[in-house]
Amino acid sequence: MEIQLWKDLLEPYHIAVEELLIKFQYLIREYRGKGMYSPIEEVNGRVKKISSILEKMHKKKIEFEDIENKIDDLAGIRIICQFVEDIDSVVNIIKNRSDMEIIKEKDYLNNPKKSGYRSYHLIIKYNVITLNGTKSINVEIQIRTLAMNFWATIEHSLQYKYKHNMPLHIRERLNGAAAAVIALDKEMSSVRDEIMDSQNSFQIKAQVVAEILNTIQNLYSAANKREIIKIQDEFYKVYKTGEVDELEKFGKELDIIAEGYMAQGLENNE
Ligand code: GTP
Ligand code: MG
Repeated sequence: MEIQLWKDLLEPYHIAVEELLIKFQYLIREYRGKGMYSPIEEVNGRVKKISSILEKMHKKKIEFEDIENKIDDLAGIRIICQFVEDIDSVVNIIKNRSDMEIIKEKDYLNNPKKSGYRSYHLIIKYNVITLNGTKSINVEIQIRTLAMNFWATIEHSLQYKYKHNMPLHIRERLNGAAAAVIALDKEMSSVRDEIMDSQNSFQIKAQVVAEILNTIQNLYSAANKREIIKIQDEFYKVYKTGEVDELEKFGKELDIIAEGYMAQGLENNE
């Protein structure tokens, strides 16, 4: 098979992975920008390497012309969550989107694989628009917690190392580790409210500070330097107290000052 043909075949899959990464990253940004908890902690993606495709074709006796129909994970997206509960939220987000159509669901959370592997898998149909028109392709989305990802990453390296002949004692230890992952995720879920509270207040504070800095930045074009320095010193003082309430109060006062300058600026331009 010519290299150029592989490139043509895989190009839409590269586009899909890039687009989907942007879309999921944008979701994270939207949540955090609003000071909300994001059910998605991080997202990554890849197009299957040609060597791995060849290996899978050989293993599953797939002909070249059947690759796109029979290999669901040419394009793969992995979504990592903090808590098991987030996985459901992510599945629902995807279900409600008009640009992704779920055609297959595999619940390896409630039905772990023999290896101990846990994750929630979706196969979606996703439309990619190229010079040749619209092409609907399959994308595999794996959704799992940080702890499950830790396990799967290590187990995958070991599988690779032992080429499917993993010694029994290693297999057993991995099974033990898989049980520990279940316990860890449960434990984290039980302190979830506490963790989310502290993350939220951290994010709200970051948001308030960002808004204040932005307003001060804008004042540079309207107020005089001495006044801005006075405001900045005041900001540092409030910031040092570490109190979100104080910062919010300062932000509101600053907004009023800024509005005053804006009004003046408009008058001066008239
Ligand atoms: P395969 O990709 O050949 O396994 O196709 P399949 O139709 O059996 O799909 P399945 O849902 O079993 O697996 C899809 C993907 O999930 C794999 O490509 C891996 O990325 C991941 N996966 C499945 N089982 C395991 C496992 O035991 N360990 C690890 N680390 N990953 C797994
Ligand atoms: Mg498999």
